[in-house]
Amino acid sequence: MSEKKELGLAVVGCGVVGRMRATLAKDFPGIGWIGLSDINERVGRQLADDLQADYFTTNFHELIERPEVDAVIIATSTWDHVEPTLAAAERGAKLLIEKPLATDARESKMVLDAIEKAGVDAVVGYTQRFRRRFLVVKDRIVSGQIGDLTAAVTRAFMNRMAPTGEVRLTQDRRFLTPMVVSGTHSLDMCLWLMGDAAKPVSVFARSTDKVMNELGTKDATFGVFTMEDGTIWSMNICWALPKEWPGAVYGLEIGIVGTKGVIDIEDTHRDVILATEMPQGPAYNPDGLEIDVRRHVDFLTSFPPGDTYGGELWGPLREETNSWFQRIYNNKDTPHATAAEGHRNLVLTMAMDLSAKRGQELELPIDPDTLMDGLME
Ligand SMILES: NC(=O)c1ccc[n+]([C@@H]2O[C@H](COP(=O)([O-])OP(=O)(O)OC[C@H]3O[C@@H](n4cnc5c(N)ncnc54)[C@H](O)[C@@H]3O)[C@@H](O)[C@H]2O)c1
Repeated sequence: MSEKKELGLAVVGCGVVGRMRATLAKDFPGIGWIGLSDINERVGRQLADDLQADYFTTNFHELIERPEVDAVIIATSTWDHVEPTLAAAERGAKLLIEKPLATDARESKMVLDAIEKAGVDAVVGYTQRFRRRFLVVKDRIVSGQIGDLTAAVTRAFMNRMAPTGEVRLTQDRRFLTPMVVSGTHSLDMCLWLMGDAAKPVSVFARSTDKVMNELGTKDATFGVFTMEDGTIWSMNICWALPKEWPGAVYGLEIGIVGTKGVIDIEDTHRDVILATEMPQGPAYNPDGLEIDVRRHVDFLTSFPPGDTYGGELWGPLREETNSWFQRIYNNKDTPHATAAEGHRNLVLTMAMDLSAKRGQELELPIDPDTLMDGLME
């Protein structure tokens, strides 16, 4: 067997997700060098010490320019993906970018164009695609077991602890909406399951903000997409469930109906329940998040990346990250979302926000300039 060169990996952003992915990289035999960057020096240096990383800097440019770097994970805050992604694409590195590609549709298009121009392999972290239950559904739909799709419905419920953690580091929350930040996961899932035939031609949506307006965001957005072939799809998220809700993070239901069958997915995590005298903290627990409420009932496994056993992460984010390492080290084909799908997802989530803002049905596709002008007017 020929000797294969070990890869050098840069991880930009050393918070909850950057830590998980970098820790998995440490165990992957094809990765021989790990460099880290975080603007929060305390958080970044802690991870560098824990992993005995090869390099750390608070300036992501210095990291990405290092000669050892072959691949880059962008795990910065939700609104801070654009600059490190552009730098990594220009460097020609293979990319795993956390969702969303950007929080401005024009910037997202700029990122996609840069990735395509550079010809780099870039995927976006739609982690739930790596769960056995969704992979089997995808396989059954692709093999025609429910016929041609006619209607689909998605319902995502989230404990408000998660968005509270998400928005804690910025005051500019104009585009940190339930659909852009979190609904994007279930939107991607449903569109991926429905396949290429599902081409949205319009959306009508409504939002409400009775609870989360004090955090500068909204509670819920519910919408209906119509596809080119007449299929209808109802996409709904509420991320304002009380902190006492036993689902610590995410609960999902998806129903997909076809001309020959139906697939009904219950993913609310009510199948593994803990009740205890001991108070339960948040499952999503980034640096600096303070939660005042203690829960005593917990729907276990509701944290989308996975769960910890023996100090290690087990679950979808492990599958996704290891699968990406196989993709970049062994050229393996994988079900990751492409950068183009990441851009599509951002545009559709923002289109729901614009439709809700106007109280009108919106025709699709919509170009990024029109979309952003509408959201900012
Ligand atoms: N795949 C999933 O299941 C999943 C789950 C949660 C979050 N996410 C996504 O992962 C990303 C990170 O989320 P998180 O939960 O780890 O957040 P986090 O707040 O724990 O970590 C983000 C880190 O990025 C750092 N950062 C911000 N801007 C930076 C910059 N320009 N250069 C270097 N470091 C910078 C922050 O200091 C922080 O330490 C977000 O995009 C989020 O939407 C994905």
